[in-house]
Amino acid sequence: MHLAFLNPQGNFDPEDSYWTEHPDFGGQLVYVKNVALALADLGHQVDIITRRIEDPDWPEFAAAEDAYDGGVRILRVDCGDSSAFLRKEDLWPYLGRDWVPGIVAHYAGEGKMPDAATGHYGDGGLATALLQKASGVPFTFTGHSLGAQKFDKLLAGGESMEALDAEYRFARRLEAERTAMNHAGMVITSTTQERQEQYGHRAYRGAIDTSDDASFSVVPPGVALDVFGADARHANESEVQRLVADRLVRDIAPDRRDLPVVVASSRLDPKKNPVALADAFAASRTLQDAANLVFITGALDDPLRSDAGAGDIELDVLRDLRAAVTAGGLTGNVAAFGVQGQAALSAVYRYFASRRSVFALTALYEPFGLAPLEAAAAGLAVVATRNGGPSESLVDEDGEYGVLVDPTDPVDIAAGLERALGPEWDDLAAAGRRRVLDRYTWDRTAEGYLEAIESAAENRRRDLVPIHPYFTDGAPDIAMDRLRDLSYS
Ligand code: F6P
Repeated sequence: MHLAFLNPQGNFDPEDSYWTEHPDFGGQLVYVKNVALALADLGHQVDIITRRIEDPDWPEFAAAEDAYDGGVRILRVDCGDSSAFLRKEDLWPYLGRDWVPGIVAHYAGEGKMPDAATGHYGDGGLATALLQKASGVPFTFTGHSLGAQKFDKLLAGGESMEALDAEYRFARRLEAERTAMNHAGMVITSTTQERQEQYGHRAYRGAIDTSDDASFSVVPPGVALDVFGADARHANESEVQRLVADRLVRDIAPDRRDLPVVVASSRLDPKKNPVALADAFAASRTLQDAANLVFITGALDDPLRSDAGAGDIELDVLRDLRAAVTAGGLTGNVAAFGVQGQAALSAVYRYFASRRSVFALTALYEPFGLAPLEAAAAGLAVVATRNGGPSESLVDEDGEYGVLVDPTDPVDIAAGLERALGPEWDDLAAAGRRRVLDRYTWDRTAEGYLEAIESAAENRRRDLVPIHPYFTDGAPDIAMDRLRDLSYS
């Protein structure tokens, strides 16, 4: 089968330049690349289609064609002013007027349209709906993150609708998402909760029915086992181990350095709620006796003592974290340091797994939760928030693959950590690892996509929600009244 992945935002190149350095180069690109490669591995012809630009600040994206090792083509098609990188919020005017006609022309030049497409985020979703309309190519839609929830959250922060729309283009985004989910032959979500909660938002009423099983396919993403597997090896595994040992010497009291650890690795973001781990330690003498607490902090090497490299949000979290460590009498029990890149992180996990350690994620809400699964693959026992994806990935009717905790309750977190560090460690670590190998690999994701794509071809729908003419022929922009209607109806 010949498949096209439409992902206009960010960009792709064989070196994965800018990943995590820019908001449009985050988890979505990792996801698209991995699903595409896994499908190519199964023998399918796969293209990732993104945007061509000749911007000297982004020189990697000037060629019309590139490829990932593994046989996935990267096709870059002009979309608006091709002399500049555009952030995803600025792409809307050009998708239907420029980008999709360019994609159709490209395939016409090759003499054949792909058999099916898959659209990513509202922008890629709108584009696949337009491609289907222009050339009959059926498609699946993967929203990744829907605009309505983000709009609600930002509105609650007190900014006006007009200001938020000017910055984030919510009227265009919601309209595009409605079109994408309505025209798609199948909508792909990572969890059942995502289907119910995100697509059940009032802004999507009349575009999709979350009780309709024929519209949805739950296909979880996977863990990169070549990086995070317990048997994988970083090119400099022992160097990473030495770095960890050095940092423990720097931060942890001498008589405690051989203890297991509770390791957390997430952005220093209030949503990830890392301070709750320090509060949990402060609340439990048993926990303090059993383990140290370690934060892996990306580019920040000594964030308990130094502000160097931290942005405003990280500084807010650090202030609270330092205060919690001091107030809880935890100095010498807590380490925080950075390692760069996924391969080094996985080496850290393996090092701590060999000391019977536990990975912890106490986010207030975690939509899917790939990080706990990566840690489980590397051999750590896992404790994770009960709010969101981990409640599906770490527990099912057959058993428990990690410990779920209430992220707002330090006593419950402490109890979960004590359990995972105790005699159940071997069973939990083995069950978590098995769970990932059985259910959360990119190969499984690719198989899920193939099934969804086949159903999409049978279900193919179009024109139920008309495509707004703003996207196609430069008609007046989508009005603020429409945004008001969608968010209040
Ligand atoms: O790759 C970045 C990502 O993970 C994408 O899914 C999406 O672009 C973004 O984060 C979240 O989008 P938003 O904040 O616009 O909802």
